[in-house]
Amino acid sequence: MTDDISNFHTSASTRSVHAGERRQKPYHSLIDPIVPTSTYVFDSYEDICQFTQDKNNAAPTDRLEYGRYGNPTVRAVEQRLAALEGGEEALLFSSGMAAVTTTLLTFLKAGDHIIYTDDIYRKTREFGQNFLQRFGVESTVVAMGDYDALEAAIRSNTRLILSETPTNPYLRVVDCEKLVDIARKLGLLTIIDATFATPINLRPLEYGVDLVIHSGTKYLGGHHDLLSGVVVGRKELVDPIREHVNLMGAVADPHNAYLLLRGLKTLGLRVRHQNQAALKLAEYLLTQPLIEQVYYPGLSNHPDHEIAKRQMSGFGGVVSFTLKADLEQTARFLDRLQIPFITPSLGGAESLVSQPALLSYYSISAEDRAAWGIKDNLVRYALGIEDAEDLIADLQQAFDWLQEQI
Ligand SMILES: Cc1ncc(COP(=O)(O)O)c(C=O)c1O
Repeated sequence: MTDDISNFHTSASTRSVHAGERRQKPYHSLIDPIVPTSTYVFDSYEDICQFTQDKNNAAPTDRLEYGRYGNPTVRAVEQRLAALEGGEEALLFSSGMAAVTTTLLTFLKAGDHIIYTDDIYRKTREFGQNFLQRFGVESTVVAMGDYDALEAAIRSNTRLILSETPTNPYLRVVDCEKLVDIARKLGLLTIIDATFATPINLRPLEYGVDLVIHSGTKYLGGHHDLLSGVVVGRKELVDPIREHVNLMGAVADPHNAYLLLRGLKTLGLRVRHQNQAALKLAEYLLTQPLIEQVYYPGLSNHPDHEIAKRQMSGFGGVVSFTLKADLEQTARFLDRLQIPFITPSLGGAESLVSQPALLSYYSISAEDRAAWGIKDNLVRYALGIEDAEDLIADLQQAFDWLQEQI
């Protein structure tokens, strides 16, 4: 049996099952072992000399020294994720936010400027605007889809552009090629958080994006039972981030990495099911009289439908919509739903539903929420892997109830 089947890893689904794992494993086990060690022992003085010599010469070696600097179970996941994204190197973190913050801190210094597109994950934006600002890094937020504004926002000290796709909660889709064209003219780094897309639906590196980030907590893990994050890209960019995470410490844990390795096996099956079910659900919602608007890139009325069709192989598992209802009626509508749980995450087996005005944005005033574009009657429906017909029947009984209230 060969230990390298990389030549046969043709589709993302096949890679999500096999990449990163050796064919031959300890004890003839089929499944990759969890290596729960915090440190690695040396046999002798000679062993130490060999290790330090390899390190100093940057010679390829699997030999490890201490848990914060690497772990074989974590490494298996990193290799799988690199293969899935078509990237040279991947780096796993303890959470998605650790991936975002460590990556930004690696490439920014006092006096630099960063551009974000809007409708970005709230904590990422807060990190840029509140935390990085304290260290002398300026930021500008530009409207998603306004590429002239993006170009106009670039200054002599701009270092990088960070965008998400699809965004949260309005599911806007960035045109990766356009973004890269603008950034490359001035040598800026491009970073895309593609958590909502997954590498099954979109591989931003193929469009020339420098680094792709995921909250692995969502679709990659796929079971709402872990927190993790990843950054993937060229080795020359990922290596300095690795030095930073080793220093700052938000490293991945091997038990967690194993759960992720296991969750990834079904990524293709789950995401393709979610793509189909979400499209059905979005089309159903469009027919409902109590719906004000449906936001889903798979619908022809979505502002980025053409980009999404060209760039993605599926439109994802999240559908957002506004109801013809006020804040409380919307909340009561969610209370009526029997299948999805009311909670702010996404990407696992169970469908989850949230009203951003009440959950993710509860700590800011109604005026600030409006300025962020968060409407009181907005609902984000993150599909799990249940059948679309069941989810639709559940929504229908909630609509019937709402009809009686209005
Ligand atoms: C798009 C996006 N990026 C990053 C994060 C942060 O990930 P984590 O919660 O794993 O830290 C989230 C979390 O919801 C997210 O939705």
